[in-house]
Amino acid sequence: MNLKTTFCKIKFSSPLISVSGIVVDTNRNINLSKIKGVSGITTKSISILPREGNPIPRVASFKVGYINSVGLRNPGVHQAIKDIKLLKQKTNKPIIVSIVAFQMMEFSLLVQEIAKCEPDFIELNLSCPNVDDEAGKPFATDPFIAAIAVTEVKKVIKHIPIIAKLTPNTLDIKRVAHEVEMAGADAISAINTTGPGMLIDIKKRKPIIGNRVGGISGQAIKPIALRCVNDIFKTVKIPIIGIGGISSAQDAIEMIMAGATLVGIGSAIYQGGQKIFNTIETEMKSILITEKIKSLKTIRGII
Ligand SMILES: Cc1cc2nc3c(=O)[nH]c(=O)nc-3n(C[C@H](O)[C@H](O)[C@H](O)COP(=O)(O)O)c2cc1C
Repeated sequence: MNLKTTFCKIKFSSPLISVSGIVVDTNRNINLSKIKGVSGITTKSISILPREGNPIPRVASFKVGYINSVGLRNPGVHQAIKDIKLLKQKTNKPIIVSIVAFQMMEFSLLVQEIAKCEPDFIELNLSCPNVDDEAGKPFATDPFIAAIAVTEVKKVIKHIPIIAKLTPNTLDIKRVAHEVEMAGADAISAINTTGPGMLIDIKKRKPIIGNRVGGISGQAIKPIALRCVNDIFKTVKIPIIGIGGISSAQDAIEMIMAGATLVGIGSAIYQGGQKIFNTIETEMKSILITEKIKSLKTIRGII
């Protein structure tokens, strides 16, 4: 059974890729890229300047998911370029470089820098709930601001596909998806974490997360992710990376039925380790055989 997938004309050995922010260290990403079942790697979101991030603890688990407020901790574009070049030398699998900006003009500067290491894709993180833009909300809560970010980037970069990563924290994700497509986005990834949420340490009488609140990921958000991906699938023609709470082959197939072409795996790595990709890939093949599904194409967006 063949899981080969083409996304924006680029070939993937399976639909399973890593999402931004879970595996951040370059050597770990090199190891991850060697795992069977991993068909592409997404980097941590990169900003122009290095960022220390939010106070610790930055990630905590609860019964059905995780809460995080990393605050986009990253080494800045200068160091990131060296890391991406090394990653590219060590793997042939497609690399998606995620970037984040706090002012609109930073996106154009960043893509011009990142383009120098020729990644396969650039993903615009328009959606981090832990860090606000000047208006006090992530860009992708507003369809027009999200579209402007895409337009600005497309003005300076034509040859690398641009993925707009959307937040579920918006009144109408279909509208945001429509506007970013009109602005020239080549693909959409959805969803980023939802919330913000809070967990409380009753002994300390304090929130568990250093930043008090954080974005929710993992199994708890899967139903929201499936609904968002299906809404987007019914609205746009560009392909979708379905992300949010995927931890099994059944989840991945649900995500493809909702309309995803690629399926991103994040929080599940915390529990299952990197080999979870291999397990999901193998089990997907047996579900496809049992369900007499000839190819992933035939079930994409079928619902
Ligand atoms: C610790 C942590 C850090 C994250 N950092 C980023 C980031 O830098 N950029 C981004 O676009 N998404 C980031 N995310 C969101 C994930 O890429 C993903 O959209 C979200 O976690 C939902 O997928 P999951 O349920 O499989 O984890 C982060 C998530 C977690 C848990």
